Amino acid sequence: MRIDVSRTPVIDVYHMLVGLVAPRPIAWVTTISESGVVNLAPFSFFNAFGANPPVVVFSPTLKRDGGKKDTLLNIEANGEFVINASTEKHADLINLSSKPLSYDESEVALTGQATTPSTLVRPPRLADVPFALECKLMQIIPVGNGPISANLVIGQIVTMHVNDDILDSHGIPDPRKINAIARLGGEYWCRTQDLFQLERPQ
Ligand SMILES: Cc1cc2nc3c(=O)[nH]c(=O)nc-3n(C[C@H](O)[C@H](O)[C@H](O)COP(=O)(O)O)c2cc1C
Repeated sequence: MRIDVSRTPVIDVYHMLVGLVAPRPIAWVTTISESGVVNLAPFSFFNAFGANPPVVVFSPTLKRDGGKKDTLLNIEANGEFVINASTEKHADLINLSSKPLSYDESEVALTGQATTPSTLVRPPRLADVPFALECKLMQIIPVGNGPISANLVIGQIVTMHVNDDILDSHGIPDPRKINAIARLGGEYWCRTQDLFQLERPQ
């Protein structure tokens, strides 16, 4: 099968893309509105891209009606967000938090999650996650302007909160203790249980 992207409906391109570029880690993002409503939503167009300074990128795409998602509106307004860990324990709640609520409603309340204040940014972090990354906006790069077009939110991590119980004896995160989950295509998600190790070539 060959897909000529320019002649293919956007929604079909989307389904093909997320089925092929997988698994994708999930950023469970908290932001805050000017009136103090804490927003929570998952984003799997997400990854880390460098460590000096530590930088992450995620993409709240434009909605199918062309509007902006609440997360993007909040970050445009105040430039701050927190990436909370997505683990197996919270899979159902992560999914539930993707429900489109109105701008003045909070998915934190919907999912019954407790929050705790962040140290360097206004949006709080989730209390019951093994790590959370406080981020300040560096740049937003819109790519396209139609439905499902990307908005690359580039954020610098300014503080990392890491529970000691996910670290190994050297103080490095142990994937066997995090139980991260990730997004595949369709309705599929995956766990991180079937691990193997390889040594890097010298
Ligand atoms: C696991 C998962 C991953 C998702 N990844 C993205 C994504 O990368 N970009 C995006 O725009 N929407 C993504 N969504 C959908 C958003 O979470 C959804 O549109 C949500 O309502 C946005 O919330 P907001 O309007 O409060 O920002 C994802 C949903 C789920 C369940």
